[in-house]
Amino acid sequence: MWSQLYRAFSRSKVEDPGRVARRVLRLARPYRARLLVAAACMLLLALTTSAYAYVVGPLLRFIYEGGAAPGEFGWFGRRVGAWLAADAGRMALLLSGMVVGLALVKGLAHYGEISLMGAVGQGTMHDVRRALMDRVLSLAPDQLVAEERGDLASRFMVDVAMMEAVVTYGLTALVRDLLQAAALVALALYLDPVLGAIALAILPLTSWLIVAIARRMRRTQRRAQDALGALAARIEETAAGLAVIRHHGAEASQAARFAEANRRARDGQLAAIRIRAFSSPLMELLGAAALAATLWYAQSRVSSGEISPERFVSFFTAVFLLYAPVKSLGAVANFLQAGLAGADRVFRVLDREPAPVREGPDEAPPLRDRLALRGVRFRRGDNVVLDGLDLELRAGERLAVVGRSGAGKTTLAQILVRLLDAEAGEIRWDGEPIERYSGASVRRQIAVVPQEPFLFHDTVRANIALGRPARGTSVEEAARAAGLEPVLARLEGGLDADVGEVGGRLSGGERQRVCIARALYQGGSVLLLDEAVSSLDATAEAEVGEAIERAAQGRTTLVIAHRLSSVRRADRIAVLEGGRIVEQGTFDELVARRGVFAELFAEQLVRGPAAAGDGDAR
Ligand SMILES: Nc1ncnc2c1ncn2[C@@H]1O[C@H](COP(=O)(O)OP(=O)(O)OP(=O)(O)O)[C@@H](O)[C@H]1O
Ligand SMILES: [Mg+2]
Repeated sequence: MWSQLYRAFSRSKVEDPGRVARRVLRLARPYRARLLVAAACMLLLALTTSAYAYVVGPLLRFIYEGGAAPGEFGWFGRRVGAWLAADAGRMALLLSGMVVGLALVKGLAHYGEISLMGAVGQGTMHDVRRALMDRVLSLAPDQLVAEERGDLASRFMVDVAMMEAVVTYGLTALVRDLLQAAALVALALYLDPVLGAIALAILPLTSWLIVAIARRMRRTQRRAQDALGALAARIEETAAGLAVIRHHGAEASQAARFAEANRRARDGQLAAIRIRAFSSPLMELLGAAALAATLWYAQSRVSSGEISPERFVSFFTAVFLLYAPVKSLGAVANFLQAGLAGADRVFRVLDREPAPVREGPDEAPPLRDRLALRGVRFRRGDNVVLDGLDLELRAGERLAVVGRSGAGKTTLAQILVRLLDAEAGEIRWDGEPIERYSGASVRRQIAVVPQEPFLFHDTVRANIALGRPARGTSVEEAARAAGLEPVLARLEGGLDADVGEVGGRLSGGERQRVCIARALYQGGSVLLLDEAVSSLDATAEAEVGEAIERAAQGRTTLVIAHRLSSVRRADRIAVLEGGRIVEQGTFDELVARRGVFAELFAEQLVRGPAAAGDGDAR
């Protein structure tokens, strides 16, 4: 229970908001030219709004009495007043001209601000999504295992959109609303310092409240966004696992899992909405109180003649207009918290370090002699998976590695293709330390057929080529060599048929053959097959086996073998147990030895290949 409590507590923790905010703003740096122009628009908006307040009092007087109030607007006012006094029609002209002129300037400034800030916000988020994707693409597949895919997607969509609010609303608020407020405060104080001071006395309290509410909002929002991520994860999981759910009658339990996430998402958002709903009327109430106090005191000042009525109207308008930016600052403070919570979730992905793999700048050449592993050690947490493993793959041979499920065969493959790195021991590629070569170039040399076939929602052709240029083998040749021809003959469109989401329109064996074709198309001097048999029936297994057979012909092949056929045809078999290779030899030698292999082999004969170490555990 304590650990759960602790998790609940630490999950709601958001990093230092100032640091997160600065980091978000740094992302907007490439757009600073547009930001500057937008800021100029905001300044214009602030000035035109204040101008409205400034002229509204005298204008009212013009309407009621005609002529300029002596002393209003200084020299300009006197001149205009004299000009207006000469003809009553001029008044209407000036009034309408001013109103339209101000509206025009305001409108232009507004348009500029919104569209420019939109460009800044959307541009920044576009860059963030790209950086997120680059980061995800740099991770080893193992590193994402703990992540829920739906939650990851939700970070790209929901949290990035929230972050945009920090850039767009955050910056707009800081510049426009603060400028606006400052201009109106200055105007109010200029028009009547005493009244101004009364009206503004409320501002410190308001600011304090804004900050206090925002702090609360941050925690609430973080939980709300985690909940949305969890909801997305459940959706993704349901779509991906629909077969399992339907087969095993797990509809009710999955619906319950979803209902729980759904409820949390609703409650999380509701909590945030309540804070928002509460903060806006609170600001309104404070504003009303300030306005009331001002009115109350103003009445005596107006009647004693200390302030002229038109001045008071202007003043009143300024104070009235002031509460819009202050209220908006309050609302923005809440938006900002949502954005910062989102940014925090995004940065957690951006800050994931790829698994450290030592690599150099050189391009790995085709394997000519041998790939040798000596004393390779690898741990996952406390679990020592490989413990001083020695193994040699000679060019041109077919080596099978067998071992029980969980022995570390797939892990060994990941280390060979440099997606994981051994913590001790050495791997030599034709005598050269493999760290000399770039991981990507090693992966170009070692074509992998993974244990779990994965297809993209695209055509068969695209799934084989994966956007890579042909290196000797065409897509058609690769498909033929992988035994896909009968499959393609059935599919409408052949190679250009769509395989459906995760290849759902193909059978398990067909998917595996596409993966084999993908490896053949890649070329490379080593073929690494991590066999999966669990999903195949006898016919499909035979077909896939044949495909593998053809693919392995005349190549250096490392088969992580589960099938008796691949084991029998291997030149050499290595048995992985307890993190080491415990036996090596030909099939007959190993059977004669009556060791671990003989045992595994006997188990397989009795129970089928799965017992010898398959089980797509993940
Ligand atoms: N991403 C991971 N995080 C933590 N532990 C893992 C991860 N992947 C595998 N393991 C553990 O590492 C060990 C070796 O796993 P590995 O996948 O290499 O086994 P395997 O020999 O390929 O088994 P199988 O024949 O079932 O495919 C297992 O104990 C497994 O539970
Ligand atoms: Mg495996």
